[in-house]
Amino acid sequence: MRIDIITILPKILDSPFSHSILQRAQDKGLVEIVVHDLRQFGSGKQQQIDDYQYGGGAGMVMMCAPIFNCIESLRKERAYDEIIFLTPDGEVLDQKMSNTLSLKGNLILICGHYKGIDERLREHVVTKEISIGSYVLSGGELAAAVLVDSIVRLLPGVLSNETSALTDSFQDDLLAPPVYTRPEEFNGWKVPDILLSGNEAKINEWREEQAIKRTKERRSDLL
Ligand code: ADE
Repeated sequence: MRIDIITILPKILDSPFSHSILQRAQDKGLVEIVVHDLRQFGSGKQQQIDDYQYGGGAGMVMMCAPIFNCIESLRKERAYDEIIFLTPDGEVLDQKMSNTLSLKGNLILICGHYKGIDERLREHVVTKEISIGSYVLSGGELAAAVLVDSIVRLLPGVLSNETSALTDSFQDDLLAPPVYTRPEEFNGWKVPDILLSGNEAKINEWREEQAIKRTKERRSDLL
């Protein structure tokens, strides 16, 4: 998979992809993540990428040409499955959407700033609009990082234990059950006996029950 991210703040994205699972996925060649500095596609000496909005009003709007030209330069190299704009008024990200996107080959992500991007790009170029939740961030970069993380961990070979993504919360519309590690007792707080029983069938049954209980208590909307 290849993911191209278009941003005016490429430095924000230095860190999220340079550690742990995401770094390893790139090292193994399972995903290529390329961050593009939109300024390089800006016009004039100032490398302008935004302008005042027609009709007046506070806040700048990201212009059509820089984003369009950046995307065209990428499209010359390969075809893209989705051109995604991260925006608070997009479809809210969930596990199902990440699962679907993890099956794609090439994605472009556009990070918005200021008042957003010129509507004509949304009409004619963007194929999908995604929000990571009902709150407003200062820009789309952190949202893009969240989206990339949720997709890349699902790619075959990325997680060392392939089943662990399948037992994540949300994969079967249930939250994950509680987990424990050593010691068996800490501060007088005990690990549930069942988990020490060695009875795999019973343990699985308990985990299923706990997952349902937790989902009912915390996220009954999922059931
Ligand atoms: N940009 C600003 N806020 C955002 C959000 N909640 N989701 C996606 N992109 C955003």
